[in-house]
Amino acid sequence: MFSSLNPRTKLIALFSFLAVLLVLHSFYASVGQEHLAIEIPPPVEPSTPTCTPQEVDLRKNVTSPGEDLDAKYGPTKQLVGAPTAKASDNLRKDRRYVTSGIKGGFTNQYINLIHIIYLGMQSDRTPIIPPFAPDDHIPHEAGIVQFGDLFNLTTLRKQVRTPLVEWSDVKILPNQDTPWEDIEKGRQLETIGCWSARPQHEHIPWTSGYLVRYLGMDTSYTRVPNSARRWPTEKIDIHVTFGALSALVNSQTYGNQQSSLMSSSPILQAALEPNTQLACFDLLYYATSSDVGYEWQSDWTPAWKFVGQYARFTSSIVRLTMGYVKHAFDIQRELPPFIAVHIRRGDFKDHCEPGYAPHACLAPLSAYIRRAEEVRQELHTRGILVGPTDVFVTSDEEDPAFWNEVKAQGWKFIDHSEELTVQKFNKWYPPIIDIVGQSLAIGFVGTDRSTVSMVSKRRVEEWNGGVSRMVKWGRPGADD
Ligand SMILES: *[C@@H]1O[C@H](CO)[C@@H](O)[C@H](O)[C@H]1NC(C)=O
Ligand SMILES: *[C@@H]1O[C@H](CO)[C@@H](O)[C@H](O)[C@H]1NC(C)=O
Repeated sequence: MFSSLNPRTKLIALFSFLAVLLVLHSFYASVGQEHLAIEIPPPVEPSTPTCTPQEVDLRKNVTSPGEDLDAKYGPTKQLVGAPTAKASDNLRKDRRYVTSGIKGGFTNQYINLIHIIYLGMQSDRTPIIPPFAPDDHIPHEAGIVQFGDLFNLTTLRKQVRTPLVEWSDVKILPNQDTPWEDIEKGRQLETIGCWSARPQHEHIPWTSGYLVRYLGMDTSYTRVPNSARRWPTEKIDIHVTFGALSALVNSQTYGNQQSSLMSSSPILQAALEPNTQLACFDLLYYATSSDVGYEWQSDWTPAWKFVGQYARFTSSIVRLTMGYVKHAFDIQRELPPFIAVHIRRGDFKDHCEPGYAPHACLAPLSAYIRRAEEVRQELHTRGILVGPTDVFVTSDEEDPAFWNEVKAQGWKFIDHSEELTVQKFNKWYPPIIDIVGQSLAIGFVGTDRSTVSMVSKRRVEEWNGGVSRMVKWGRPGADD
């Protein structure tokens, strides 16, 4: 084609080509220099950060002045209406939901419930919070305690800006005093398919026996795919991750969903696929946001940062607890600023470092006394004066000799058997009152590796601006 052109045109074409090369060369040369110049860091100027219009648009403007967030995120907007006999009749077709079973004592259940809310935030699903229900060492006659009776849902919805309903908002549940044997009487069972977060080597799901019967949900389980696990190739790892669970409940294809049925429902033998509108899990306690297990031991745990810290106690449980603590301090007036000491013993004696006798490995009272004094001194330097005996002790220790030692120290404690706390309320209340009491302190001394201590330490530090220490144990002199 080129050869068909006359010589003059060929010459013009050649010069044009050379000219283009020259321009391109100088262009790249200058870009190269600019590139070098950019690599020199610009001088740091103190300036207030500004938002470009796009950045503003990226943020959800969830409130307008005067908007009632409690109504927006509460049952009236999140559910069809008043509680119904079957949950499925009260779930809105334009909303999706997430919930889970429970396990363990009060604090483990609390962490699990906070995890449901956190997964609800991540997956844009309305969390349905179960009540605290008997499990493990909590006997059936303890009955249930509604989350909303202990935690202020109004402030939680406002602060977390996320929908939040309880099971008691969703469906008609047995009266709180119904004996366990009668819990299923006169009720229509509902079947549902849920996910089990248990790892491959476990053959049965975690069963919240009491809770699922109280809720009237006859549940079949399908194991979550390995890709939802913290370490997908590790067969026996117990943790699953929030991000993967969120993808799992919102995407039909996540992890190829190659899981098969783990167990059919115990009563009606239903074999159902996991429900997509109401995503449910056997347990979310072991969910984590990173490759760190048991994140609550770290200061940065997102579940605490984004949810837990805003779950404040209701005024009625605080008022009740204040009465108990005042009685322990033997005063009628306002409580003075005090230090709470949580001494966890119980089964910790079975977790000594190898070679140490069970009782020798627990920290002695003297270790708690020393730490409490440190906390008192530190508070003093901040101008907060705490009397040496203004110390409120809680412990699961039952040995009277231990309590005599505490008494000799002039420290205060609630005698729940004398107060008839169980008889007046139920078996949940002694630990609940102890925990709420800890949250009222300005100083805190806890027991290392106790989840109760971990959570109370945060409440004292972040709610009250307090000071804390954790006492180590595991071998004699561990805290020295
Ligand atoms: C959010 O809405 C309020 C009231 O409508 C408005 O004043 C404010 O500028 C908005 N904020 C953002 C970040 O868009
Ligand atoms: C929740 O907190 C708000 C704000 O502090 C308070 O007005 C309300 O009475 C509290 N409700 C309960 C049930 O504690």
